[in-house]
Amino acid sequence: MTEKIISLRTKIETDLKQATDLADLETLRVSVLGKKGEITNLLKSLSQLPPDERRQAGQAANELRDWATLAIADAKGEITAREQANSLATESIDVTLPGRRRTIGRHHPISTTHTQLENLFTRLGFSILEGPHIETVYHNFDALNSPQNHPSRDETDTFYFSDELLLRCHTSPMQIRVMKTQAPPIRIVVPGMTFRRDEIDATHTPAFHQMEGLVVDKGIHFGNLKGMLELIVKELFGPEAQIRLRPSHFPFTEPSAEVDITCYSCKAKTMEGCRVCKGSGWVELWGCGMVHPQVLQNCGIDPTVYSGYAFGLGTDRLTSAVYGITDPRLYFENDMQFLCQF
Ligand code: DAH
Repeated sequence: MTEKIISLRTKIETDLKQATDLADLETLRVSVLGKKGEITNLLKSLSQLPPDERRQAGQAANELRDWATLAIADAKGEITAREQANSLATESIDVTLPGRRRTIGRHHPISTTHTQLENLFTRLGFSILEGPHIETVYHNFDALNSPQNHPSRDETDTFYFSDELLLRCHTSPMQIRVMKTQAPPIRIVVPGMTFRRDEIDATHTPAFHQMEGLVVDKGIHFGNLKGMLELIVKELFGPEAQIRLRPSHFPFTEPSAEVDITCYSCKAKTMEGCRVCKGSGWVELWGCGMVHPQVLQNCGIDPTVYSGYAFGLGTDRLTSAVYGITDPRLYFENDMQFLCQF
């Protein structure tokens, strides 16, 4: 037994000298001290020795195990130090290289417009809600009083999934969802993405953003709507900006109006060459009106007791107006050079 122990020690000493890296050393450790390692097996075999030999051999085997554990740990320390010294000598850091700057994200300009408007509406006691992008034909058209032959119902205008489901073409269906589930007084705005089957060009993108507003209470009149529109415009364009209302038609409002603002580009000086207002001094920005009595009724609200107003802000266009952006495609290209200007 003693001979076996001595020869094992000699063998481990030789192997240790040959282990040049940490991987070699680990292989050696496993082969010696691992579950099926040579020293482990040796310790196990002690039980087969006659009792008088066992004591002495056991002591020697334990000493061998302690020695091997230490010797391998020492060798590991030496190899690690050697590898570190080596890498310090061969690798170098060029402290003159320029640093790598981390780019900090920014808000998308449309998000900035939404935040600005949401702050205004929150101050005025409105709730901010979001609605589903996938809508039913009922919420998107029927309940909004849209006639069966309305062009926007056409498959060429709206993305349909089936006869019943579509990608909402405006945020107005949220008027229905809210009026059906909340009793007046209602004061909400709904920011979100909307979709139409438009070809992409310099004035159209198939996805764009709107912010729907809805107020329903007793005694709400057109003057309330106009006051609100003025507040919105002054918030975004400053105290000098003015609005003009033109009669229009939407199935879900009566009367309906189109909101124009004084041209933000030529400041309504009606310059003939102004590309934005084409010399008229006014820019069309969004639609609005008094909630149609039929729509109130569709939602179980008595139009002889309650009235309301609604508006649908096209926030892409509004953002273009605020920053003088002339091509809405830029909003969706995620070009950092564009986005970092805001
Ligand atoms: N939903 C209309 C559209 O996308 C915009 C609109 C007009 C919304 C009048 C309204 C409104 O709430 O009262 O063209």
